[in-house]
Amino acid sequence: MGCVNSKLVPEAPPPNAHLVETVYGHQDAKNKANRTPKLRQTQLHERSIRDPQTIISTPQGQRTNKTVARYRDKFDPRVTAKYDIKALIGRGSFSRVVRVENRVTRQPYAIKMIDRVQGKEVFESELNVLRRVRHKYIIQLVEVFETPGKVYMVMELATGGELFDRIIAKGSFTERDATRVLNMVVDGVQYLHALGITHRDLKPENLLYYHPGHDSKIMITDFGLSSIMKNGVENFMMTTCGTPEYIAPEIVARKPYGCQVDLWAVGVITYILLSGTMPFDGHNRSRLYKLILKANFSYVGEHWKDVSDSAKDFIGKLLVLEPHLRITAAQCQQHPWLLTNAAGSANKNLHRTISQNLLQRQSTQNSAKSSKSGKSVKSIKSQGSLRSDPHRVLPEEIDALHRDPEVLADIASLHQY
Ligand SMILES: Nc1ncnc2c1ncn2[C@@H]1O[C@H](COP(=O)(O)OP(=O)(O)O)[C@@H](O)[C@H]1O
Ligand SMILES: [Mg+2]
Repeated sequence: MGCVNSKLVPEAPPPNAHLVETVYGHQDAKNKANRTPKLRQTQLHERSIRDPQTIISTPQGQRTNKTVARYRDKFDPRVTAKYDIKALIGRGSFSRVVRVENRVTRQPYAIKMIDRVQGKEVFESELNVLRRVRHKYIIQLVEVFETPGKVYMVMELATGGELFDRIIAKGSFTERDATRVLNMVVDGVQYLHALGITHRDLKPENLLYYHPGHDSKIMITDFGLSSIMKNGVENFMMTTCGTPEYIAPEIVARKPYGCQVDLWAVGVITYILLSGTMPFDGHNRSRLYKLILKANFSYVGEHWKDVSDSAKDFIGKLLVLEPHLRITAAQCQQHPWLLTNAAGSANKNLHRTISQNLLQRQSTQNSAKSSKSGKSVKSIKSQGSLRSDPHRVLPEEIDALHRDPEVLADIASLHQY
């Protein structure tokens, strides 16, 4: 979950920072509604339609049932006085994300409700970052309600669904499409890094499309594991955290690390975008981490035949063991593949193999959701699911890894910095 041990909270906001004030009660904050485009009621996040827990209320509020009532009870009346709760669109361990509508302007928003005690680390991290950022590819915080038990973050609503869901639905996928997405992600990451912010949990599940249109921009979300540099001085982080498939080798090696861990994750995301497979996909966590520690990945398989050398070069410059040799976000933007939208095979349609792989992932996801047999995450993953393990990296499993002599040898050979 959060990385409170190493949280480096700035005493003052970074230069050119933007602050969002906390709102207590429903007195009107500055009207920021004009920042959010008008969205039709039908433009729901794909997940909210699929989710059996979806709560829909009529404008008249007639169709209330026990679930709605119970759910609304969890919201502070000051929040519900201003926002009409429409649907549950996401759940975390200590949080719920709902789609809401401002009762006056009818503008849709997302509210992330976090339990103050259990989710303390998450909301502190998330608020520390979201209060300071304003960027076209980063989800915008609108206002915050705080009560003794809960924190409610009112955010822009992204209605286009997750990155992978879009690729499947889109019907075509080219390197040009991939570079378009990556240009936006890297732009957002460069902005964060310039402010001394490391996201630490970049993955396709945290990259949301703003709207369902084909030209939608992508938004970086979920700053629950983020860290901020203290007083602009370069600080190394130490906390073992992240999502297993995307975690950088220096974190697994328990070395002090910097914002380059986000670029490793961008490399993993790029690999997935172009092949529909994971670069590091061990049958268990220990195997997965060992592959990461060796940067042991390959371009073997049918799906790589149509991928340009330039794209492979881009990945190869990101999935680099030594963080200081990994290209930075700014250097990514200067890489010929992103600059030229993958010259050569740019428009070759990679969709068939990728969508097959992604659909396989989707179906394993769905069967996991519908299964009541308690099938383990491990067994789902071994069937080839691409969704990352919902559990976070556990420090104790890294402890166990560090008792393996082979692993210690790999770690010793990693460049010291
Ligand atoms: N601003 C938003 N607009 C639309 N959906 C969102 C928004 N924020 C979060 N979600 C949905 O809720 C899910 C969980 O939110 P997230 O911030 O990632 O929390 P967690 O820390 O639990 O992963 C996301 O994967 C996404 O589907
Ligand atoms: Mg998330």
